[in-house]
Amino acid sequence: MTRDYLILHSRRSSVVLECPPDEVPLWRYWGPRLPEGATPGAALRDTRPLPSFMLDVDQPLTVAPTFGVGWFGQSALLAHRDGQDFAQAFTRCDVEWLQQDTAGSALCLHLHDDVARLRLDLTLRLDAESDVLVLQSVLHNLGDAALDVQWLAAGTLQLPGHCDSVRSYAGQHVHEFMLQVDPLTRSLWRKESRRGRTSHDCFPGAVVTTPGTTDDTGLVFGAHLAWSGNHQQTVEWLHDGLYQWQMGEWLAPGEGRLLPGQALHSPELVATCSTAGLNGLAANFHTELRRRLNWPGGAMKPRPVHLNTWEGFYFDVHPGPVQELATAAAAVGIERFVLDDGWFHGRHHDRAALGDWWPDETKFPNGLGELIAHVNALGMEFGLWVEPEMVNPDSDLFRAHPEWALQIAGRPLLTARNQLVLDIARPEASDYLFEKIAALLAAHPIGYLKWDLNRDLAPAGLANGTAGYRAQIHAAYALMDRLRAAHPNVEIESCSGGGGRIDFGVLRHTHRVWTSDCIDALSRVDIQRGFLQFFPPEIMGAHVGTAPSHTTGRTQSMAFRAAVALPGHLGVELDVRQLSDADTAELRGWIDVYKQLRDRLHHGRVWLGEGGDGLRWQLHGDEAASDLVLLVLRPLPSSHRYTPTLRLPMLDPAARYRVREVLPAGTVRPTGRHHTAPFFDAINTPEGLVLDGAWLAHAGLPMPRTQAETAFLVRLERV
Ligand code: GLA
Repeated sequence: MTRDYLILHSRRSSVVLECPPDEVPLWRYWGPRLPEGATPGAALRDTRPLPSFMLDVDQPLTVAPTFGVGWFGQSALLAHRDGQDFAQAFTRCDVEWLQQDTAGSALCLHLHDDVARLRLDLTLRLDAESDVLVLQSVLHNLGDAALDVQWLAAGTLQLPGHCDSVRSYAGQHVHEFMLQVDPLTRSLWRKESRRGRTSHDCFPGAVVTTPGTTDDTGLVFGAHLAWSGNHQQTVEWLHDGLYQWQMGEWLAPGEGRLLPGQALHSPELVATCSTAGLNGLAANFHTELRRRLNWPGGAMKPRPVHLNTWEGFYFDVHPGPVQELATAAAAVGIERFVLDDGWFHGRHHDRAALGDWWPDETKFPNGLGELIAHVNALGMEFGLWVEPEMVNPDSDLFRAHPEWALQIAGRPLLTARNQLVLDIARPEASDYLFEKIAALLAAHPIGYLKWDLNRDLAPAGLANGTAGYRAQIHAAYALMDRLRAAHPNVEIESCSGGGGRIDFGVLRHTHRVWTSDCIDALSRVDIQRGFLQFFPPEIMGAHVGTAPSHTTGRTQSMAFRAAVALPGHLGVELDVRQLSDADTAELRGWIDVYKQLRDRLHHGRVWLGEGGDGLRWQLHGDEAASDLVLLVLRPLPSSHRYTPTLRLPMLDPAARYRVREVLPAGTVRPTGRHHTAPFFDAINTPEGLVLDGAWLAHAGLPMPRTQAETAFLVRLERV
């Protein structure tokens, strides 16, 4: 029997779909690269004896399964027209190849349901280099009555039956990216978020592993929904022992209503697989995200060291102290000075003023110009905090336009942090925000906006009484784009009470994320490791905070705080004026180290690993492993008399490496080391030691004996 197959190859992965006539293509394969020309050999149904008590036509998993064809698993589409057309069945497929070249393969499947009068355009793009598969669904209502869509999967993926667990990320404010590992069983695995933002507590993505997966080995699959609103994903066991994985936007009731002729666009589902374990998967996601970032001028400039005023001053920002802080900041090497909350009209606490986006007349009677000129004169760029999508009931804006807040007539307004959400899908509201923010950007050399969003959407009622979660996200993206089009040199940071809006969707419009409001270095170890599974380090806002930490009360050395922040987009978030001379000198030293290493840290690969005796490490370097920076962290006290060596399997066994400890200028003996040994003195010299790659890969690099909450930073260069 002849069958058509649709085959997409990338460097290390392949997708194979089978195209029986008059139906949706069947999933045959997604996994490691198959040789050119390899096909299944037999049609799927010809290989599956029909079990008892089944429909007489076997229904394997398709790329868009619907129960109208007798699919009993999760459907890719749930919709109806006033109760009619409730069971969709796509019975025609036109294949349109969009791309087939060395850069990758892309096709659009035009799926037709002539009975329910629908067309689903499902795009699959497999990037040749990164192995990233992007899926997106667009549903067209071709009927003459409204269609109510309850669920439209962005894509449906097939996972092999030997997958055994799913790693997802839970969390809360000040505690993002908490790893959850759940076994895959015959029960449905489902995660949903209805908070109207990406959320702290339910990251829209996961990693599915096979038995024996490690950081660097084993077959793993990852997927992420590029979207900053409500979302849902399921992994479901199927009766042929495989799993299906669906992800899409969670639509509030009525939100998916399509009038005749309208179309519903899903967000993109960004998926990838790797045989090189969790780090291999991370590398694929990083490559993809780097391509999506839309930098002013077309390329990322070295990530400037930030000073953010929030934890130093909170709302108490007055020109005198802020200028003094700027002076002190410039002296330690800060390159971008970000004035956080508290600068605008009436903003003296978190109970008022959101919406009134002009400088507070009591704090800045002559506007921001003087401060910005001072910052610029010190050689620093100026950045400003805004939270455009929000309004306080106690604000001039709300008093003038109470109807602009998302609300439901007849129900009380639900505040969070004393604020309401503006309905920015109203053109007049987004015009107002554009004018106010663009006026600031036009009046001053402001190179950076920290764009915050400090509450969940609840309930997001539009003026006509319908749900506006989806509209709100599209309007936020559009407002960012409009401001960027008017001021193309401005970079934007996506913040949402820390890490509540971190996703590939918002990162099409922004350039950095504020990873967490928790700057405690120990807490940051896990938060940042979760983050790095999907996102590259150069967009990871990572600050040196106060000791004790404002969020946890724990105290850490300057060295540990700086080392944990170092690999990300480094910043400082404390009142530098209050530091001791020793801490100031050490901070300056770490900032210098960052400037020396940032090109290495922010391009290429990141490998994460766990060493013996509780060590956590990460290695940043090029794919060929010729120039690497190793950061080893010891979060907890040692429980071994001798700390085991650290094996670095990604090193080239045929190469030799110059190994040197990196210490900030002025460090005599690294903090937290009572005892040392000659090896560590030898690598702490300009010439370091030259060691065999094979030895370091298989036998390992000696580790110092250190106290808890310490770091060990090493440069490895191929000689
Ligand atoms: C959020 C952010 C903080 C800070 C405050 C200001 O909590 O995450 O970094 O900007 O808002 O109100």
